[in-house]
Amino acid sequence: MEIAVRLTTAPKAKPDGTKLGFGQVFTDHMFMMDYNPEQGWHNPCIVPYGPLELDPATAVFHYAQAVFEGMKAFRAVDGRVLLFRPWLNLERLNRSNERMCIPKVDPEFVLKAMKQLVDVERDWVPSAPGTSLYIRPFIFATDTILGVHPARTYKFLIILSPVGSYYPQGINPVSIYVEPEYVRAVRGGTGEAKAAGNYASGLKAQRAAQAGGHAQVLWLDALERRYVEEVGAMNVFFHFGDEVATPELSGSILPGITRRSVLELLQSWGVRVTERKITINEVFHAHSEGTLKEAFGTGTAAVISPIGQLAWGDRAITINANEIGELSRKLYDTLTGIQTGRLTDEFGWTEEV
Ligand code: PLP
Ligand code: COI
Repeated sequence: MEIAVRLTTAPKAKPDGTKLGFGQVFTDHMFMMDYNPEQGWHNPCIVPYGPLELDPATAVFHYAQAVFEGMKAFRAVDGRVLLFRPWLNLERLNRSNERMCIPKVDPEFVLKAMKQLVDVERDWVPSAPGTSLYIRPFIFATDTILGVHPARTYKFLIILSPVGSYYPQGINPVSIYVEPEYVRAVRGGTGEAKAAGNYASGLKAQRAAQAGGHAQVLWLDALERRYVEEVGAMNVFFHFGDEVATPELSGSILPGITRRSVLELLQSWGVRVTERKITINEVFHAHSEGTLKEAFGTGTAAVISPIGQLAWGDRAITINANEIGELSRKLYDTLTGIQTGRLTDEFGWTEEV
C-alpha cells in the first residue's frame, strides 16, 4: 500500500527541548488509515495533525473498543534516530487487537508507516538528555450504531509527542500507594491487553493516591488482594537480597517491553532474576528484615523509576533511603545508553529510522 502524504503549510514552533513534560505537545503530522471488512486496512495517509470529526454514535465513545501502544524514537548521540524494539510493540498491539475483537494490522506495514511519519517529523526528535519523541499508535471502533457488538469499521492513527520525563521527579524516587480496595484487572479480563478502558477504570484509585501525595498506585491481585501486580503505567521489580524479582505474567498484568528488556539485561549480567508470585506482605517483611534493597518500576514512558516510598494501609516504608539505587541507576544508564547509541547495542534492540 502506498501512503499518501499531505504536508502542512503551517508548521508549528518547536518547544524548548529542555522543558518538555509528557504528552503535552504534538508534532505537525499524523498517520491515519481505515478499516472495513470489504477493503481491510486501507487509505493510509500522513496528513497535518488536527481534530477528527466523528458522529456522536461512534462506537468507541460508548463501549470503549479501543487499544493503543506506547513507544519512543530517540535522538542518538551521532544524530541518527532510533526506535527501540518496535516489533515487540507491534506484536503486543496485535495481541491487544485479538482480545478486543479489533482486526489485526500488518506489523511490517505499520512499522514502515511509523518510520515514514517519524522521518517526516525528524526535526521534532529532541536531543536533550532524557528526552525522546513518544509514539502513540491507537485503534478505535467507528461504527455508528448503539448495539453492543464488535464494530465493522475502525480507524488507526499514529500521533507523536516530544517528551521529557513521565514523572516531574525525573529519575528521582517516587512514592507509591498500595491500593487496598480497587483492582485494575483480573485473569480472564483485559489486563494483559493495552486496552483504553483499563486506564479509565484505574483513574479513581490513581486520583485518591495522588491526592495523598503519591505518584501512582501499586495494584494487587483482584481475588485475594495479596499479590503484587504492577503500577499504573509500569511493571514493578524488587531487589531482595541476591535476587531481583518481578511478578510473573499472570494474565492480568501488561507484559511490558521494558520489563522484558530489564529481565534480559539482568540475566546477561549474571544477576539472579525471577518471575514469580510476590505478596505485598513479603515486600514489607523484607523491608523490616533489611533485605529489601531496591524497588523500581519499568515502562516506556517512565523508563526506570525507583520507588522511594511505599504506603500500604497504615504502614509506610522508605526504600533505599529514598535514593536512586545502584541497580536502578545501572539499568537506567544501560537502557538509555542503548536507546541513544551511547552504548553498543549488543542485543540488536534498536532500529534506525
Ligand atoms: N503496565 C502498564 C499498565 C502500562 O501502561 C505500561 C506502559 O506501557 C507498562 C506496564 C510498561 O510497559 P512497556 O515497558 O512496554 O512500556
Ligand atoms: C507507556 O509507557 O508507553 C505507556 O503507555 C504508559 C502510559 C502513559 C499510559
